[in-house]
Amino acid sequence: MRRAVVFGATGGIGETICQDLARAGWSLYVHYCHDQPKAEKISQELMKEHPNQDFMTIQFDFASDHQQMKQFIQSLLPVNAVVFAQGITKYGFLNDQKLTEIEKVIQINLTTPIELTKLFEATLLKQDFSRIVYLGSVYGGQGSALESVYSATKAGLSRFAQAYSREVASTGLSVNVVAPGAVNTPMNAMFSKEVMNEVQEEIPAGRLAEGKDIAYWVKTLLEPESSYCTGQTIYVSGGWLL
Ligand SMILES: NC(=O)c1ccc[n+]([C@@H]2O[C@H](COP(=O)([O-])OP(=O)(O)OC[C@H]3O[C@@H](n4cnc5c(N)ncnc54)[C@H](OP(=O)(O)O)[C@@H]3O)[C@@H](O)[C@H]2O)c1
Repeated sequence: MRRAVVFGATGGIGETICQDLARAGWSLYVHYCHDQPKAEKISQELMKEHPNQDFMTIQFDFASDHQQMKQFIQSLLPVNAVVFAQGITKYGFLNDQKLTEIEKVIQINLTTPIELTKLFEATLLKQDFSRIVYLGSVYGGQGSALESVYSATKAGLSRFAQAYSREVASTGLSVNVVAPGAVNTPMNAMFSKEVMNEVQEEIPAGRLAEGKDIAYWVKTLLEPESSYCTGQTIYVSGGWLL
């Protein structure tokens, strides 16, 4: 049985990734940080729809320290794939941000995913094929004013994935980034309808992405036939920015 961890499964994109991977036959660890009820609901619905697969919720805060990370990894069954769909942003001028806020965005989006990657490596390399996918952003390719730290973390993920993929390319572990444009999820709830309409007008495809537009590429990268694609950042933006 193939098993994946979906970090950020309670997010707008993560939930759809879980649904698509479950339909493709994957058993899943459904990760949450704060929203346990949502993770339980996702997991129970998937169990009903796919009774021959396993769906287990797991809680983990990406602001945790190294020791907690090690214990967390040791508590998991072997997995074939890890999807990092968690993430936060802090919107505003850099000059208004405290160092603790800057460090938190970097830790949750970049440092902890890198450290978890290191800790997952041994188990991933034991599988006949294995996969890592990070959720990046168009802002990793084109920096966005008022999201400078977020942009830096997403650019960092793309270059990390490219470099790390070369270390493990001969092992059957592929490492890629799926980088969305603007997606219709709670992450954009801080913006008014007017602002989101303005964004939509800039997108050549004429609409925001839905979770399924992004989940499709994650699911495809996890397929055994995708093994020769590694180190890439795949921009899924409706033609916007990149
Ligand atoms: N939405 C967009 O327009 C867009 C565009 C480009 C890239 N992305 C990227 O796509 C990914 C998913 O975005 P989304 O729109 O689905 O976001 P979302 O709906 O805001 O969900 C965020 C997810 O991150 C988790 N999370 C928050 N704080 C955490 C922490 N301290 N430790 C671990 N997990 C934590 C949340 O878990 P709980 O709810 O359980 O706390 C939730 O599952 C992110 O990496 C984001 O940067 C999104």
